[in-house]
Amino acid sequence: MNLKCPACQQVLNAFPENTPHSLRCENNHSYDFAKEGYVNLLLAQKKRSKNPGDDNAMMQCRQHFLNKGYYQFLVDTLVQLLKQHAPGTVLDVGCGEGYYGHAFKQQMPQLSLSGFDIAKGGIKLAAKRRVYDQLAVASAYDIPVMQSSVDLALSIFSPLDDKELARVLTTKGILIAVGPASNHLQTLAEQVYTQFKPHQNGFALLDNSPYFNSIETLQVEQKTTITGADIFNLLTMTPYYWSASEEKQQAIKKLEALTTPLAFQIKLYCRA
Ligand SMILES: C[S@@+](CC[C@H](N)C(=O)[O-])C[C@H]1O[C@@H](n2cnc3c(N)ncnc32)[C@H](O)[C@@H]1O
Repeated sequence: MNLKCPACQQVLNAFPENTPHSLRCENNHSYDFAKEGYVNLLLAQKKRSKNPGDDNAMMQCRQHFLNKGYYQFLVDTLVQLLKQHAPGTVLDVGCGEGYYGHAFKQQMPQLSLSGFDIAKGGIKLAAKRRVYDQLAVASAYDIPVMQSSVDLALSIFSPLDDKELARVLTTKGILIAVGPASNHLQTLAEQVYTQFKPHQNGFALLDNSPYFNSIETLQVEQKTTITGADIFNLLTMTPYYWSASEEKQQAIKKLEALTTPLAFQIKLYCRA
């Protein structure tokens, strides 16, 4: 997948060609690879004006929690979809610490996989997994790849920019977006709020987009018991953490088990 210069939008080439230590465009904008193997394509002025993404504590807690396999049934469904749509190149939008990329590569070692996230801490963790062919620090609102270079884009609980996604997908490209179904983590939310508000459809932007047509909607759900430190890791990886008072956080830390629905909505779109 050809990466794009964030300064002038031209294609970035490996430099030197054989043992690249940087990427460079024809206008001589140059971006060095970090020692971990990722490249930072977020321009300084954009970094200041946009959110920094999830912080390191959230990323680490998400990694600890996801590595325990609680979301394996979601992974299995996504792998089936990836196989069904037989993609050439897959882009993991807002890949975070790389759990899904790692899980996909275990079941599909030949997958050509690139990922990016606005949070450098997440990209550093993802790089350690050594499964992405390309990794960049970049924004979902300025996707760091050239137009028509992605066969399948995946956005799992990550920000969506319909125009940008349509730009990078090939004409036959597919977008898979994953978000919470209405009752996702209901009992965790009830630990924080007096009344649970069911999640609303998070895909209105795509459903009403002139760039995409919806082709399939799936819902996968399991009631799961989460135990011990995994409960607090789960809290910390979600926005509920910011709403939980110190007292509620301490109460959640003391829980030995929490049974909650894990419920995901998966939507597939093609280019309009
Ligand atoms: C809920 S996490 C999901 C991470 C990963 N997809 C997963 O499911 O484990 C949302 C991710 O989006 C990233 N993010 C937030 N704003 C972003 C933006 N403007 N561009 C790219 N990534 C962004 C966060 O840093 C975070 O890693």
